[in-house]
Amino acid sequence: MYAKEFQESLKAVEEAREANIAYEPARMTAKEKEDLLAAYHPDYKKDQFEELKIGPNKGEKVPKELCGILEARSRIRPGDVDLNNPKYDVDVLVIGGGGAGASAAIEADTAGASVMIATKLRIGDANTMMAEGGIQAADKPNDSPAIHFLDAFGGGHFAAKRELLSKLVCNAPEAIQWLNELGVEFDKAPDGTMVTTHGGGTSRKRMHAAKDYSGAEIMRTLRDEVLNRGIPVIDFTSAVELILDESGKAAGAVLMNMETGDLSVARAKTVIIATGGAGRMHYQGFPTSNHYGATADGLVLGYRVGAKLLYAETLQYHPTGAAFPQQIFGALVTEKVRSLGAKLVNRDGKVFMHPLETRDVAAASIIRECSDRGEGVQTGDGDAVWLDTPMIEKIGGEGTIEKRIPAMMRMFGSYGIDIRREPILVYPTLHYQNGGLDINVDGMTTSVENLFVAGEAVGGIHGRNRLMGNSLLDIIVFGRNAGQNAAARSKKTTVGTLTLDHISKFDAEREAAGIETDVVSPMLLPDYTRKKSEV
Ligand code: FUM
Repeated sequence: MYAKEFQESLKAVEEAREANIAYEPARMTAKEKEDLLAAYHPDYKKDQFEELKIGPNKGEKVPKELCGILEARSRIRPGDVDLNNPKYDVDVLVIGGGGAGASAAIEADTAGASVMIATKLRIGDANTMMAEGGIQAADKPNDSPAIHFLDAFGGGHFAAKRELLSKLVCNAPEAIQWLNELGVEFDKAPDGTMVTTHGGGTSRKRMHAAKDYSGAEIMRTLRDEVLNRGIPVIDFTSAVELILDESGKAAGAVLMNMETGDLSVARAKTVIIATGGAGRMHYQGFPTSNHYGATADGLVLGYRVGAKLLYAETLQYHPTGAAFPQQIFGALVTEKVRSLGAKLVNRDGKVFMHPLETRDVAAASIIRECSDRGEGVQTGDGDAVWLDTPMIEKIGGEGTIEKRIPAMMRMFGSYGIDIRREPILVYPTLHYQNGGLDINVDGMTTSVENLFVAGEAVGGIHGRNRLMGNSLLDIIVFGRNAGQNAAARSKKTTVGTLTLDHISKFDAEREAAGIETDVVSPMLLPDYTRKKSEV
């Protein structure tokens, strides 16, 4: 139920609904998209980026908040731990307990390696759990991995590393089968075939889903599998530094108990970073759809030991974050809402874009509507546009919303908004880190031996923009890949003397560059405590 200040705009939306359902908005041309992005997408705001002065990507620009933590000080001094007395000693150490980490651990275990997961919260407390709309795979007769590749390559501005994207799309059908066999309850038709829908930028319906809590269903299954196999999981324990051996190979990590601050050493023949994204960095002051632990830790850990970043300057702002009510500001409103037929309309009830443009274009288009064009709806927390959800029931029939997107219905229903009858207010929210650590096709970083990366901490799989449903896919494909390859490599690896010398080297580099900072990283958790001046 909306207050009276929204009523005039709501009336315009309702009156235009039938005509808007019939209206087929044109797709933008490549030139229109380019101009739109340059003028309105946050990635193009030059003053929000800073040049790295040290480390493997010295000279490149990244968001200034990220620059601050990449160039920051370590949380520890090398003498704080006894490297000769590791508390844990394993073949494969997985850092992170989300979908990528769990998939990696399962495959490493299958390959016969001793594997352990260290995670700063609990296993499953991760962005995977919060993913809603689905997972892409070209497994229908009218589709193919080649078509999937073309959609994703174009959507990512032709910048994806081809060999990584190729692996992603070619392994996708098998990834779905693997999940299905592990027990993921995908939406299926009465004949047992998977129900699939479109996402932004897809030319075929290849989004497989479990209603609109696909990530929770996938994470539930992976977590059960990890626990059933008896894979050790060290909860509430973050990695604060990687450890190398004297030949420069990754050889473990310093772990910190999140409650007591106690440090311990985990020695490992191979290490997999699966720490997820960075939404809680709140780049450019954006709210986020991300999990509480999404603070770019893996990028910091890898960068400090010399692993290169790729496309760390590109972020994804999901076009439809909840903009009202304030209690759910920034929460994800799945793209599936648009896949099912809801269109974006401005305060006058006018459709201003095709609902399934790629995410960067859709986000920029909403920002334009709310800024220069002055066509947004004032919410009290900024401007927003309407996402006309009642269209879904008119197109798909009564009951479609409850059946296909029950989580959305419940989320807004908790605040008295019945999305079957009333539209919702949305604005872009920080959703995904397109860039990350640079890997080869085996999942190992291009610059540090025996250091693997999987999931959102990887850069280059999607290029400079990711399509919906390719992230749940990449955590499975590249999580499994990293687990298999790290396990195989551990069999051929002998760990040398452990060292934390990189900390002093990084300190020296910082000093030589004249950087003065009190910031320590990885950040681990966001700081939402109010400053004295704000109380
Ligand atoms: O809109 C969504 O459901 C998000 C999906 C994704 O980021 O892949």
